[in-house]
Amino acid sequence: MSLTTSTILICAGGACISAGEKSVKDAFEEELKKYGLDEAVRIIETGCMGACTLGPIAVIYPDGVFYQKLTPEAAKEIVEEHILKGRIVEKYLYRAPEGKPVPKVHEEVPFFKKQVKIVTRNLGIIDPTKIEEYIARDGYFALAKALQMKPEDVIKEIKDSGLRGRGGAGFPTGLKWEFAAKQKAEKKFVVCNADEGDPGAFMDRSVLEGDPHAVIEGMAIAAYAVGAQKGFVYVRAEYPLAIERLSIALEQAREYGFLGENIMGTNFSFDIEIRIGAGAFVCGEETALMASIEGERGQPRVKPPYPVEKGLWGYPTVINNVETLANVPWIIRNGAKEFRKYGTESSPGTKVFALAGKVKNTGLVEVPMGITLRELIYEIGGGIVGDKKLKAIQTGGPSGGCIPAEYIDTPVDFESLQKLGAIMGSGGMIVMDEDDCMVDVARFFLEFTVEESCGKCTPCREGTKKMLEILEKITSGEGTEEDIEELEKLANVIKDTSLCGLGQTAPNPVLSTLRYFRDEYLAHVREKKCPAKKCKALISYVIDPEKCVGCTACARVCPVQCISGQVRQPHTISQAECVRCGSCIEVCRFGAISKVTPALPVEEAVE
Ligand SMILES: Cc1cc2nc3c(=O)[nH]c(=O)nc-3n(C[C@H](O)[C@H](O)[C@H](O)COP(=O)(O)O)c2cc1C
Ligand code: SF4
Ligand code: SF4
Ligand code: FES
Repeated sequence: MSLTTSTILICAGGACISAGEKSVKDAFEEELKKYGLDEAVRIIETGCMGACTLGPIAVIYPDGVFYQKLTPEAAKEIVEEHILKGRIVEKYLYRAPEGKPVPKVHEEVPFFKKQVKIVTRNLGIIDPTKIEEYIARDGYFALAKALQMKPEDVIKEIKDSGLRGRGGAGFPTGLKWEFAAKQKAEKKFVVCNADEGDPGAFMDRSVLEGDPHAVIEGMAIAAYAVGAQKGFVYVRAEYPLAIERLSIALEQAREYGFLGENIMGTNFSFDIEIRIGAGAFVCGEETALMASIEGERGQPRVKPPYPVEKGLWGYPTVINNVETLANVPWIIRNGAKEFRKYGTESSPGTKVFALAGKVKNTGLVEVPMGITLRELIYEIGGGIVGDKKLKAIQTGGPSGGCIPAEYIDTPVDFESLQKLGAIMGSGGMIVMDEDDCMVDVARFFLEFTVEESCGKCTPCREGTKKMLEILEKITSGEGTEEDIEELEKLANVIKDTSLCGLGQTAPNPVLSTLRYFRDEYLAHVREKKCPAKKCKALISYVIDPEKCVGCTACARVCPVQCISGQVRQPHTISQAECVRCGSCIEVCRFGAISKVTPALPVEEAVE
């Protein structure tokens, strides 16, 4: 046996894989072999390390040096310089905004430093395909501890922790377990909801890919607490890597006796099956999810009865989200009191967000609840791209709402967000700047909902379609003030009368933008203006003859050749032909092209 001198952790999360992680890993391996170091230096492929835009990423231990945006050539250079000679290769280091290269980002960069990792504690640290690495990080100790406790004491610990469901609604997990435990039934089930249908969300997927045993352990503890014998993980087919790593983990957990008959020599027996969903948003709704597991069409049904009373095949069923379950082992191991040290009184612990949009550092972040939006966006997120003005923060995906910039000091917890007409949701957070049109944002989310409505009930099936039509009318400059009123009325009716959570929350993006950005809606209908200059029908591209030097760059990229002018003479755009693609504005180095709103009438085209 040879001694390991260094370890190279390579992020094998979805984003890094797409960025070329495999070829970087191959190059590391090849180069290490070349120097006979393949035994002494270990390469471990981990789950998402969080800073997804910097991928492919590798961290070299024991030094803890973080390398970003790697290529196979970079990997070779790092082996030659860093591994062989102990010299850090500066050009692949992360650079702080002021340009300084930072070797140890976890200690120095706010993006990492300000996070608190409970759910994502093992992501980027362990090899998710090796149960031994999970155990080395205290894995399955919580299950062992729980099995020595009475089930009601396990439930009490979770209740005391104040853990609330991370799948969207924030229902207290301990209470849900208590309801299930009290049911008298010959069979009970535990289901992990890994459907994650929100566009742009990848929190649950990252946990399953990077630390599948945490979810398995959480499910086993839940099963012991409520008296279930069988569990299902419902995961969408679009997550093949999560499914693969989870399958490996399940097999290993069985081998180690953490799943199956008489777990750890006790009377408790429990096993888990994976159920693959086709990837419909509505299948994340718990009653639709159960129908799908039972082999029926994934459509919701009226509640009550709730799944804890009548769930899968009529038996009591606990359904919890991936992130909720990944919190459980940590809580049992460290105790409810420790968990409550993070977060707020009514929203204890942390929350994982997929930070996206116009923020400099996008990626996966885990923060204590109660952190303010300002800290999240400006300290962790590094501020707005191009240092533009923050306009709004959209939380909760298609069921969520937009929070205007003036509420930047709001703490992020269930109640505070709800008060503002937004929701925590499952953790999607999209940052918007002055170039985003809020009417168009509402239209985008509604388009998604219309597509995903299962069609079972009329308000959702027909109502959301009608709302989308109105929004399209407004964004194309055809809307009236009556349309805005009708939109609002419809939104409230759909919210109150739809059968399931999808329809009940579909109007949220519209209602919250109407609440805070009504003037934008009015500008669209009254003045035919799009204040953000985003809605194509309401803008024109114009060339300022004073600034135009006649370099012809714009004319060369215009796909419809509607820009004319002589070399070194001011150019003009034919408004009748322009398709408002925006290519010209991007290539003009003299700032001569701008967008104006309302759109210029065609006959008034600038000559
Ligand atoms: C349309 C719709 C989609 C949903 N999608 C998900 C999902 O993808 N993942 C999830 O955990 N919960 C989802 N939920 C919430 C679940 O119905 C359920 O409340 C949750 O899984 C319970 O787990 P928790 O208490 O741990 O949050 C969705 C709800 C609705 C109405
Ligand atoms: S609200 Fe929409 S998704 Fe839910 S049952 Fe009705 S039609 Fe289906
Ligand atoms: S916006 Fe597009 S179509 Fe219009 S002038 Fe510029 S490049 Fe041409
Ligand atoms: S996938 Fe590599 S950092 Fe997120």
